[in-house]
Amino acid sequence: MNGLRRKEYLAALGLKSWVLRAGAPAAQPRALLESALLESPLLDPARPASEAPAPLAALRESAFDWDQLRARVAACTRCGLNATRTQTVFGVGNLEAQWLIVGEAPGAEEDRQGEPFVGRAGQLLNSMLRAIGLAREEVYIANVLKCRPPGNRDPSENESAECLPYLERQIALLKPRILLAVGRIAAQNLLRTDVSLGRLRQQAHTFGISRVPLVATYHPAYLLRTPADKRKAWEDLKFAREVCARVQR
Ligand code: URA
Repeated sequence: MNGLRRKEYLAALGLKSWVLRAGAPAAQPRALLESALLESPLLDPARPASEAPAPLAALRESAFDWDQLRARVAACTRCGLNATRTQTVFGVGNLEAQWLIVGEAPGAEEDRQGEPFVGRAGQLLNSMLRAIGLAREEVYIANVLKCRPPGNRDPSENESAECLPYLERQIALLKPRILLAVGRIAAQNLLRTDVSLGRLRQQAHTFGISRVPLVATYHPAYLLRTPADKRKAWEDLKFAREVCARVQR
């Protein structure tokens, strides 16, 4: 950690300086800092994230369990979409799931019900999963954004950046065998790329430092508008099933 960042963390903790005790092993300051953070009132999930100093935001999420993360998301005001949402849409499914399906953002029906993929696109997603032998209840389903963008517009860069730490923590907690990114927005955000979905599909990617295998395919809402591409989506799903079968646990 560089000096400036350390100062910011320490200031957030109300500490003025950091002195390494004689004989302490070199790896200790970070461990100590993290345990100080874990005990800090800043970790109170009921406290709005906007009250926390920026550098702490990501670090705090990286320590949350499912309940803390859910509470943090429910209280989130980071990007401003809280002004127009009915409720947050955290994610749903089996906490032992091998498959994590990642979509873009809640639509009108999801915003109303508080669950991802419950509208028409959700019905098609369920059928797509069934086609490769997966029940909706077996997988976990989440979105890049936890709040609905008004009028179902694409998420802004800032909205995605503010919300992604929640999905990253969901991935870390779930430890899925495979990520299936449905649609361009999910694929590009998870892979941090501008490459088109057409070029991302049919390849085995990996996500982040955990290197969870990731396969990208079309969004079910797109397939409802463009049924001719369902055949390609079917190829992607079979490919994802193969990738998943190859994963060593
Ligand atoms: N589209 C998405 O990407 N996610 C949903 O939850 C619903 C529609």
